[in-house]
Amino acid sequence: MLPGTAATQPETDAWHGNMLFINMRNHAASGIAMGLFKGCFEGKRVLITGAAGVKGSWLTLLLNEAGATTIGLDVRDPTADSAFTTMGLGEHTTLVRGDVTDLPLVQSLVRQADTVFHLAAQALVGLANRYPMETYRSNTLGTITLLEALRLASKPVDLVVVSTDKVYKPRNDNDHDEPWTEADPLFASGSYAVSKACAEQVCWDYHHRYLAPTGVRSAVARAGNVIIGGDTYTSRSTGGAGRLFVDCYDALIHGRTPKIHNPGQVRPYTYGLDVLCGYSCLAASLSRPSVVGKAFNFGPPDYRGTDNATLATGICRSWGNNQGWAPGEPRDEPHVFQRLSLDRAQKLLAWRPIYSIDRAIDDTTLWYREWSRKRAFSEAAFMETTAHEILARFLQHARQSKTWWAE
Ligand SMILES: NC(=O)c1ccc[n+]([C@@H]2O[C@H](COP(=O)([O-])OP(=O)(O)OC[C@H]3O[C@@H](n4cnc5c(N)ncnc54)[C@H](O)[C@@H]3O)[C@@H](O)[C@H]2O)c1
Repeated sequence: MLPGTAATQPETDAWHGNMLFINMRNHAASGIAMGLFKGCFEGKRVLITGAAGVKGSWLTLLLNEAGATTIGLDVRDPTADSAFTTMGLGEHTTLVRGDVTDLPLVQSLVRQADTVFHLAAQALVGLANRYPMETYRSNTLGTITLLEALRLASKPVDLVVVSTDKVYKPRNDNDHDEPWTEADPLFASGSYAVSKACAEQVCWDYHHRYLAPTGVRSAVARAGNVIIGGDTYTSRSTGGAGRLFVDCYDALIHGRTPKIHNPGQVRPYTYGLDVLCGYSCLAASLSRPSVVGKAFNFGPPDYRGTDNATLATGICRSWGNNQGWAPGEPRDEPHVFQRLSLDRAQKLLAWRPIYSIDRAIDDTTLWYREWSRKRAFSEAAFMETTAHEILARFLQHARQSKTWWAE
């Protein structure tokens, strides 16, 4: 019997043996965007690993709007100030607390899914390098566990494995302007990059040997650095491993001057919803032989990316109050330049990013401004309305730009 179709519908989601019964009333989409992704997710059960994280939260919101029933898996409970909690997602999805390396648990979740987005990972480069064994466990063994669960399930499922552009081998000084294509060699250094590159290698082995023959259609997504509201990784809260744009907003909220490490460092800063729509387009296109079993880059409209100084200047402009930034302590990073070619995603998925860096910054500023203003009132789900407004505005822009997945 399918979850949610039990004759006696449970009031809340509930485990019976190793089956999770889902109360569909908790999962009704608001309906603003039905028809998204050509209706590919309508009525589908989607498992999102790492759902309590920043990308997982926005992906849950997006796919709920696209008509999916979402189930999340995460090793940690969402914190009070997380995107997941403040968007009120607990009312609209089922979040299972558990480790992605727990094979019986992952098997039980995979059995109930039509599509899986695998995001669970140690996602901070600084923490990954500080705790290598835990990083390889979550990032590499976690991916292997999911692949094994799919092999054992032996049923058709669509799978998008979320990797990173940090897997690419750094360019040298002569060719740093050349963007990475998916055919470029992998293996940058550091536990984060290597754990993800190893996970990708295992994906290809499982794909060819075990999964494709049983109807599991899989692909890998490599995105650049994402900016979006709801990210709480400040350097203050992570012992110096925070994300630059989050540090910037943290300083502005508290009336401090943002300190910017490596101002000349270039990253493919991309709006989060653009990247998540890229993942969704990839999942929606897995029926095509030209797409399945491939890796795809997702990045910003301008392949040259944005340097940290320009990003910080944009954030300060958007925040107002004539606040500027100052150079901070340099960080040791393997890549000075990261540039991504989007040719494959444009050609095979007809995907392209919607937001320029300035628009991405403005909507991210809107989140942090609202978040800092409203959090004093401590109401549950105090960012739910703002999150829906931010999503609706993005989808409206996508529709206006005649993007196939938004029409
Ligand atoms: N944010 C970015 O700029 C960016 C860029 C490229 C790739 N990525 C990738 O996107 C994915 C999501 O990243 P994010 O920015 O949302 O990070 P995040 O830390 O907010 O989300 C990751 C989630 O995975 C969970 N997790 C970690 N280990 C787990 C385990 N063993 N079992 C179950 N859950 C576990 C964490 O608790 C967390 O909630 C990651 O795979 C990351 O590597 C992120």
